[in-house]
Order: sequence, then C-alpha cells, then structure tokens
Amino acid sequence: MKTYAEYLALVEGALSKQLASLGYIPEKLFEAMDYSLSAGGKRLRPVLLLASCDTLGGNVDEALPFACALEMIHTYSLIHDDLPAMDNDDLRRGRPTNHKVYGEGMAILAGDGLLSAAMELMLRAAVKMGDQRGVRAAEAIARRAGVTGMVAGQVMDVTGEGSTPTLEKVDYIHRHKTADLLTAPIEAGFILAGADDAAIAAGCEYGLQLGLAFQMVDDLLDVEGDAAILGKTPGKDAAEGKLTWVAAKGVEATREDAKGAVEKAVSALNLLQGETNFLKTLAQSTLNRVQ
Ligand code: IPE
Ligand code: IPE
Ligand code: MG
Ligand code: MG
Ligand code: MG
Repeated sequence: MKTYAEYLALVEGALSKQLASLGYIPEKLFEAMDYSLSAGGKRLRPVLLLASCDTLGGNVDEALPFACALEMIHTYSLIHDDLPAMDNDDLRRGRPTNHKVYGEGMAILAGDGLLSAAMELMLRAAVKMGDQRGVRAAEAIARRAGVTGMVAGQVMDVTGEGSTPTLEKVDYIHRHKTADLLTAPIEAGFILAGADDAAIAAGCEYGLQLGLAFQMVDDLLDVEGDAAILGKTPGKDAAEGKLTWVAAKGVEATREDAKGAVEKAVSALNLLQGETNFLKTLAQSTLNRVQ
C-alpha cells in the first residue's frame, strides 16, 4: 500500500496526459476543461479507486485510467453544479467558477467534454485489458454517475430547493448525489482487483457510509467553514433553501450522524481480507476535514 500523497501524485501525473491522449481537442474547449481539472481539489475519488484496488492486491497502473476518468466525471459534476441554473456559485477549488471565466455555454460544454472523455478513456482501457474486469468497472462508474446515481441525486437537490427538509428527501439526495460517486471508486477498484461478490458488497457498504458522512460534513462546512480554506463560498445552502442534513436535523445531530456513518463504514471493512487500514483511516479523517 502507498500513502495518500503517493496515490495523489500518481493521479496528478496522469490526469492531463490521459486527456491529451485522446487527440486534438479544440483549444478553447481544452482550456476550459483543463482549468477546472487542474485546479486541484482533494482527488479523493481517484485516490480511493487506486487504494481500493491496491487493498485487494490489484494492479494500480491498470486502475489509473479509471481513476482519472472518475475525477473527470466528478469535475464535470462540479462545473455543472456551480452554474447559475443550479447552485449559482462563484468560487470553486479556490478559483472563480468555470462559467465565470469561460461563460455559461463553454462551461456546459467543458462539463460535457469531461464526461465524454471519461467514458472514452474507460472503454479504451477496458478494450486494452481484454477481459471482463475493465468493462464491469466502467459499467459501475457509469451507473453510479448516471441517471439512477449522481444525476438522480442532483435532480432531487435542485427540484427540492425551498421545500420542507425531511430526512427521507435529504437521505435520498446524499445517497445519490454524493455517496454514489464515492462508492464508484470502491466498486470499480475491487472489480479491477478481481474481488468476489461478497467483497464488492462490503466495499459498497463502506462507500455508501463514507459518502453519507462526507456529504454531512460538506453540509456542516457550508455552515461553519472558512471560504479561504474551503475554496468555495459558505452560507449558500441556507440562502438557497437547500435540503441538507443540517436543515433536517441541526448541527449537533449532523455531527453525531456523521460519526455513526463512519463507524458503519469502518465495520463494513472488517468483513474483508486485505490491508484495510488505509481505507479505515481515510474514513475517519473525513470527520475532521476542513476543505
Ligand atoms: C465536492 O466534492 C462536492 C461534494 C460531493 C460535496 P469534494 O469536496 O471532493 O471536492 P474537491 O474535489 O476536493 O474539490
Ligand atoms: C454537490 O453537492 C454534489 C455534486 C454532485 C456536485 P453540493 O452542491 O453541496 O456541493 P458543493 O458544496 O457545491 O461542493
Ligand atoms: Mg449542489
Ligand atoms: Mg453546490
Ligand atoms: Mg455543499
């Protein structure tokens, strides 16, 4: 197993190369895509994918295109999430949002471009691998990013604005807009490592609980966070009437629920053989994150 910084370095080293490997991309489009992709961020999803694959003894190099693709999908979701028609945000990853710099039309296309590039890269990697693992990993990522996954969660998030924040609605939003995209790397990473169905199910339970905790903390940071550290504008959720865990249950209960979800994430890993300490520590660190 490697450290977070080592997995991160692998991702940072590969992201732009993966994009460039697709061939000529019109300059303006490439610039807009690269602007958001190279802005940093925690790279949690691709790091999770590499670490999950490594946890069960898989080949990290083989997993790298899938990790990059997932980060491209995540970045597209952020560009679109920030658009005036969605959350209308000006600051992302410490920079002006994509549409503030390139305009709404190009921001929409940059998001489309990142999503399409991700699919292309995953399928290309799957063809090269020549067995079922690549196709199954690509399917898992596409499904969790898609219309029953992240997009479904975003729909409830956007259409629910201003309505009564019931726990039922907020739970649905958190499961799909966030937890699905945080389960995707575990599911894909385990598939690439050749895991059996029981191990994949345990990994997905870890991803779900980690994802719920991660979005609860995101909701807390929107209330308590500092823009300079967060790299995005706090206070927006309450201003827009967003259906957050904090709106449904309050700050203290949200903190407790996040702790409970992390405990469940950690205990799901006890069912696995392999070096699970990295994933356990990562789940626990979610509770103390400040960005
Ligand atoms: C932000 O994700 C969107 C949520 C699901 C809360 P991250 O907090 O992982 O954002 P980056 O990638 O580090 O910028
Ligand atoms: C976004 O949730 C989840 C996505 C799918 C992008 P938020 O709207 O709470 O994320 P932030 O706070 O803007 O990063
Ligand atoms: Mg949003
Ligand atoms: Mg947002
Ligand atoms: Mg948020």
